[in-house]
Amino acid sequence: MDFLKYVRLIQGGMGVYVSNWRLAKAVAKEQPGKTVGTVSGTGLDVVYVRMLQLGDPGGHVRRALDAFDDQFGVMIGKKICNRYFIEGGKKPAARFKNSPQHIVRPQNGGNSIPSSAQEPQSVPLTLDENVVELLIATGFAEVWLAKQGHDGKIFINFLKKVELPLIYTMYGAMLAGVDGVIVGAGNPEGLPEVCSKLSNHQPVSSDLLVLYRESGESFHVPFDPRTVAAGQLARKPLQRPAFLAIVSLENLAEALAHSQTEPPDGLIIEHHTAGGHNAPPQGSLKKDNKGQPQYSDQDEPDLVAIRNAGLPFWLAGGYSSHEGLKLALAAGAVGVQIGSNFALAEESGMKPSYRTAILNELKNGVSDEDLVQTTMFSPTGFPFKVAQLHGTLAQESVYADRLRVCDIGLLQHRGLTKPAPDGTRRIFQRCPAAPVAGYLSKRGLEFNTQDKRCLCNGLLSTVGLGQIVNQNGQWFWEQLTPGVIGKSANKAVTPGSSLNQYTLFQGNKYAIAAYPSKDQMVLLVFDPQRPEIKRFSHLIYFPPDPAFAVPATLEKFPKITKMTMLTSRNLEKTFYRYATIHFTLENKELQLTAFKYAISPTILLSSTSFLCQCALLPFCNRCAAARRFLLTVRGRFGFSFTTSPVTICRRPFRKMLIFLGSNLYPLVRRTFFTNGIILWVFPSPEKVRSSA
Ligand SMILES: Cc1cc2nc3c(=O)[nH]c(=O)nc-3n(C[C@H](O)[C@H](O)[C@H](O)COP(=O)(O)O)c2cc1C
Repeated sequence: MDFLKYVRLIQGGMGVYVSNWRLAKAVAKEQPGKTVGTVSGTGLDVVYVRMLQLGDPGGHVRRALDAFDDQFGVMIGKKICNRYFIEGGKKPAARFKNSPQHIVRPQNGGNSIPSSAQEPQSVPLTLDENVVELLIATGFAEVWLAKQGHDGKIFINFLKKVELPLIYTMYGAMLAGVDGVIVGAGNPEGLPEVCSKLSNHQPVSSDLLVLYRESGESFHVPFDPRTVAAGQLARKPLQRPAFLAIVSLENLAEALAHSQTEPPDGLIIEHHTAGGHNAPPQGSLKKDNKGQPQYSDQDEPDLVAIRNAGLPFWLAGGYSSHEGLKLALAAGAVGVQIGSNFALAEESGMKPSYRTAILNELKNGVSDEDLVQTTMFSPTGFPFKVAQLHGTLAQESVYADRLRVCDIGLLQHRGLTKPAPDGTRRIFQRCPAAPVAGYLSKRGLEFNTQDKRCLCNGLLSTVGLGQIVNQNGQWFWEQLTPGVIGKSANKAVTPGSSLNQYTLFQGNKYAIAAYPSKDQMVLLVFDPQRPEIKRFSHLIYFPPDPAFAVPATLEKFPKITKMTMLTSRNLEKTFYRYATIHFTLENKELQLTAFKYAISPTILLSSTSFLCQCALLPFCNRCAAARRFLLTVRGRFGFSFTTSPVTICRRPFRKMLIFLGSNLYPLVRRTFFTNGIILWVFPSPEKVRSSA
């Protein structure tokens, strides 16, 4: 790591995508060897997926992903492009499809963790293969782009608090020949060794913090690079990049210098005046009258002790001048790391209108204190600097108008549910900036949600990749309860994505079919364990199956005829032969006859198009009675289902019949029951939150 001693200036990593490949390249080229550019490694998967959906302006993403495929003889880049690239870009009002969240599961593919009461152990968890490939490929692409056409040095920066994707993106960056890795926001002990192992494609493992674990129990995510793309990435040894740790005080600097595993190759000593995340103040948290954490002399690093720790170091936080560099050199540093000034450079990823607004404020003589505030917004719990710009989420009024949402999840924590009677627990992921009800349902405390704001969405907006909000007529699913799975046409629905016409949620014992339309949402709730079903024996019960949720057309009979049908209780009931429903299933063209109780203009569903576009196939043909479900409204639009002891008996219907509308109790909270199913109609679309 001899080259480190010549590095006078490191352009600091600034996530998400503020310090992108363009900025890093520009700095690295300035005085190769002396000035180093750093790309941010945080959220690259999210950024690249969005850029592909913008039509990949300039073609850089596809160029880099092609290079990845060519260099390693794989099809990963192509697969990513096929999944996300939109020629000419998505429609301006269309929402971005999100990249898959980083959700860990036990290795057996289920979601339950057995009790570790007998033998505490380290439980291996896995991350979906597509997520791993996306992280590796985008880590490669960003560094590859930054390194094109010059000999300067390129580093990549990570936040230890975003721990799960780190090793995969780092490996991807190493495949592109990254020269250095910088890790901040947390203690990176163990990561220099991981970096060394990955340079030889050896298996590594990252410890994962899982809350509410049993004593002695731990969790880790193993990663063997040779299992990716059948070992194609692991054919040539890699250059081991330099590893630099960001610390604020001498105690961590000394501990890392004497690491039990492998010490870092250098340290960035970051003062609390630096941009981005900062270490919290020493001692108990005190705030000033603007709510900013108050720092004291205890937070000033002892530079003599740091120098004595023996590792090369760079000073960061207010050193962006010639004077600053001279001070740093005099203190024994090799150089400085600078962030804020580079964030305002033309090459930075920051949205030009924000850059201009900040530069204008500066031209108008705004003071640092008025322009930038240290907040406690970050879900990491670390103080976080926010520029106070009019009309942005930094402002309380703008923020208050925003629905809390967690659809990216980079800063989610993992935890375990309370044990079930058999001792098993499920893993959940939660973020304190997410909707409060969901956070509380995952063993969270309301107190921890206070002040917290969604940095994932906030930072993506900062670089012009913000999600489109307020889509009239669209419904978005937000996963509040772990273990709820959404499927549409047998494909997984990712939390945060908008629902299409037929989505089946499964969680707990319930299956819930969701039929969104422009101005209302219809949910069908199936409870296969209700006592009436168990008692009822003369028809077979099929659990709902998303494969049977098919698009269909409804062809009304020109003449609607009345008919009498004998029910299984020998009751005669009157129905109207209403329409034929045509659909295709397993390549067979099929049709069903639809009946109605009444042909009435007051039918609630008359304003809903969903039944005209889909057919519900034999979802429930052994139902003797419906059980009443109560709707618990939580927060603004969240809801959950609980069953009440009240049972409303309905008669079973014959297999394969579809009943449209009319069986409805308009006065009973706009609820109606059919066939053991409750349909719930909401008057205004917003969020669907699963809490089944
Ligand atoms: C907008 C912005 C985002 C930042 N993001 C990160 C980050 O993701 N990771 C990190 O280690 N440091 C981050 N930083 C800190 C910089 O890398 C650098 O250490 C710091 O800005 C130096 O202090 P200065 O801003 O006074 O020059 C960020 C800084 C800014 C201004």
